Amino acid sequence: MSADEQKKKAARAAADMVRAGMVVGLGTGSTATHLIKILGDEVRNGLTIRAIPTSEETRKLAIAEGIELIEPDEQTIIDIAIDGTDEVDGRLNLIKGGGGALLREKIIAGSALKMVIIADASKKVAQLGAFPLPVEVDRFCWPLTVSRIREVCEEQNLKNIDIALRQQEGGGVFRSDGGNYIADLCCGRIGDAIALHKGLIDIPGVIETGLFIDIADQVILASADGLEILGE
Ligand code: 5RP
Repeated sequence: MSADEQKKKAARAAADMVRAGMVVGLGTGSTATHLIKILGDEVRNGLTIRAIPTSEETRKLAIAEGIELIEPDEQTIIDIAIDGTDEVDGRLNLIKGGGGALLREKIIAGSALKMVIIADASKKVAQLGAFPLPVEVDRFCWPLTVSRIREVCEEQNLKNIDIALRQQEGGGVFRSDGGNYIADLCCGRIGDAIALHKGLIDIPGVIETGLFIDIADQVILASADGLEILGE
């Protein structure tokens, strides 16, 4: 079974958790794309849901699939957010942002009653950090912000790591949907993800980090052998 088939299987399991009338946070990436297409099928078969997309890419796909989108107000309750991940450890902590949508993904995940992660089994790791950690930064004087990021990393025993400003395919610096830059931190192994996140988020110029700590309620990992469910 290919990784893509595994992603689809995880997406199918999460789609089964979506009930009529729910407000659904729609994630970003190839696994979330499977979910949106499955939900699109269900909407065409009569399922009534409203959704909030976590990226412009997801917004376009959801519209093409006929899923009703809403702009939340202060009273909006997001029943469930479903998204992919780049890494997940045994405590359900994540590295996300490989697709550059980490800020909007974290806003939606943090407001949802339930946050479900869907992934192929390769995303499960013993320790976070092999996947470069995305950190969204303001464009103003960004090299100064990267310099401060490096200091925080060194305090966390991440010495002399590569930090790359993300480029877009075809050339040019990548910009998030919010117009910001993303620095990818090649940490290798993150010893204390909580301390690293706290250190980074305190830097003026850092908008958000791709460390999703204590946010996911459930992780659905699919492999050829079946589904592994982490969390409640
Ligand atoms: C986008 C993300 C994605 O969820 C993450 O990169 C996983 O992507 P995929 O489902 O394509 O493996 O965080 O910002």
